[in-house]
Amino acid sequence: MQKTKPLTASELLMPLPRHLEEKEGAFRLHNGRTVSFDPLFAGVGDLATEQLSCTIGGEDILFKRTDSLGEDAYHLKVGKTQIVVKASEPSGAFRGLQTVRQMALANDNIIPCCMIEDEPSFSWRGFMLDTSRHFFSVDFIKKLIDVASMHHLNRFHWHLTDDQGWRIKVEGFDKLETIASKRTLLNYTDGRQYGGIYSDEDILEIQQFAHRRHMMVVPEIETPGHASALLAAYPEFGCTQGPYEVQDRWGIFDEVMCAGNDDLLHFLQKTIAKTAKLFTDPYIHIGGDECPHTAWESCPKCKARMEKEGLASAKQLQSWMTSEICKMVEQEGKRPIGWDEVLEGTEKRGLPPSLIVMSWRGDQGGIEASDRGHDVIMCPNTAGCYFDYKSIDSFEEPGNIGVTTIQKTSEFNPIPKSLEKEKRSRILGGQGNLWTEKVTSSRLAEYMLFPRLSVMAERLWNPQDLPSVEKRRASLEKKLSKLDINLYRGKST
Ligand code: ACM
Ligand code: ZN
Repeated sequence: MQKTKPLTASELLMPLPRHLEEKEGAFRLHNGRTVSFDPLFAGVGDLATEQLSCTIGGEDILFKRTDSLGEDAYHLKVGKTQIVVKASEPSGAFRGLQTVRQMALANDNIIPCCMIEDEPSFSWRGFMLDTSRHFFSVDFIKKLIDVASMHHLNRFHWHLTDDQGWRIKVEGFDKLETIASKRTLLNYTDGRQYGGIYSDEDILEIQQFAHRRHMMVVPEIETPGHASALLAAYPEFGCTQGPYEVQDRWGIFDEVMCAGNDDLLHFLQKTIAKTAKLFTDPYIHIGGDECPHTAWESCPKCKARMEKEGLASAKQLQSWMTSEICKMVEQEGKRPIGWDEVLEGTEKRGLPPSLIVMSWRGDQGGIEASDRGHDVIMCPNTAGCYFDYKSIDSFEEPGNIGVTTIQKTSEFNPIPKSLEKEKRSRILGGQGNLWTEKVTSSRLAEYMLFPRLSVMAERLWNPQDLPSVEKRRASLEKKLSKLDINLYRGKST
């Protein structure tokens, strides 16, 4: 009988490690295997017992502490009788564990012998989930975080508010739950509703789950546009006082937060304070994209604000709001992030230097932001970062207008080609985004995300000189299937 060639580490891994030496033989993982760890890595060791089905005691798998490796860096040696992960920080030990887990899942617990020295190129390796257009359960979000963390991703950007639903509670504003979190489904004639809101306990559960996997959680409270759900509950926060509705259609709506209304600012202050308290990581995303100024132009309050603040245009008024909201975020000890529209209308107030710009309409926003001294996260919809787009250009494929092929994602580099060398350190990294207008279920969300998010993770870990993704599609499909992910299996181009 002809023996098939055993698969090697380089055929099993995504992201591919920075330095990899293949060796002869394999380590066989089975239920009798044991794990030991330096006390610093107790959390990772505990997770290893779950993810590799081993027990604490012996040293079949060993997590050792070493000096002088970077935060996410690790060294891994897989021998025939022992696996050793060395790291300086728990996050590095965790990445080492995920590399072992990937090989075990992709190759029926036969882990090929190898030596790996690995570390990431970028500190921001993220994915965004829109939970407003469609609502996703706590269990599903945890599942996504787990699979994302297996690919060394470390930021979960959680889009919590939009026109079609508000998903976080704020004390004293009960109508966020009773009105803003639900929409009437207009495709039915019986008035049925759709929605949901995350309780504080839900959020804490997700955050704890993410932190155990060395993933930060970045909440987004969208301002000042995409606010129909909020306005439906509190029409006094809009320019015309409504009535407004929680939208059941998709697009950009003229109803936005009134920039002249101090009560609205007070509400935002409370919302940001609440968000800052509940989410313990350093960032709050404040939105800023796609905000029409139609309502502001005929609103006496907005006009009065412009006059008082000496603002010459509606764009400057939006920028004034951005500055005010950034101040609120900073007062709560957090760092603000905004979509690239925050770069507009800044003649009067400038932009708070700490604001991180998320470049989504191509890479121009990222280039301009880094020119202006801001840190940048890249997720251009033109360069393979939008996973709400179809995987191939076919009417039979689910997804929004736009196409993001696997091939396109595999060519993504967070550093824009034209960016001068000295500005490159401003690019913190990038992320893949899943807007969910057309993503009606968690199974469909999985299909839109995978394998494109796996490919994105590799570009964020180390985009240099990578071999083709195509050769690793089969092992990727195998490991994702083992985790019960409903993935896209079609063409890459
Ligand atoms: C966006 O895609 N509107 C940020
Ligand atoms: Zn107004």
